[in-house]
Amino acid sequence: MKLFIDTADVAQIREASSWGIVDGVTTNPTHVAKTGRKPAEVYREICDLVDGPISLETISLKADEIVAEGRKLAAIHKNVVVKVPIVREGLKAVKVFAAEGIRTNVTVTFSPLQAMLAAKCGATYISPFVGRLDAVGHDGMEVVRQIREIYDNYDFETQILTAAVRHPQHVLQAALAGSDCCTMAYEVLEQLYNHPLTDQGVELFLKDWSKVPKDA
Ligand code: E4P
Repeated sequence: MKLFIDTADVAQIREASSWGIVDGVTTNPTHVAKTGRKPAEVYREICDLVDGPISLETISLKADEIVAEGRKLAAIHKNVVVKVPIVREGLKAVKVFAAEGIRTNVTVTFSPLQAMLAAKCGATYISPFVGRLDAVGHDGMEVVRQIREIYDNYDFETQILTAAVRHPQHVLQAALAGSDCCTMAYEVLEQLYNHPLTDQGVELFLKDWSKVPKDA
């Protein structure tokens, strides 16, 4: 499963990239707003840091405006994936992008039927927001499982990009469900490394090694 970092914080992206596990980046308007910086600068720096899919989101609500905005975003760098909310006008734009060879990440997705529509329009990625579904008492990961089944039933090539991930258990369940990619905050990426038994084990080995006679 490809691992993406979900942020527009360049320092976090730089650090996580150095670990060798980051396959791509997803941003959104909220992440960009948090940086307090101009989007163009932020996007350029991210593209210089990561050689993988980088989702940059459109904010227009009419198909022709989304297309115009997305074309500009796609022109920033070959790795840019145009992120489009799954509204009707958005999917019209996705179809145009697909015909032009511009990759898309269809976002703010909450149902398998929405995901089926996005695949029919030629979306490259579909982003179901599992954590937001869990937060309102639904089973977010069940949506991922159902999308997997639909896409496999009909050989859709759209990749599932599990999003709004809150903790490592979401990442594990996404991997078990056959999600193609999973995007998460820096903090969740960090948590994937952690296990108390690993810490204890390493500490014990070092303690024992200190008792070993050393070569001259
Ligand atoms: C994914 O691409 C989104 O940027 C992200 O996961 C949004 O979810 P959140 O704001 O609920 O974390």
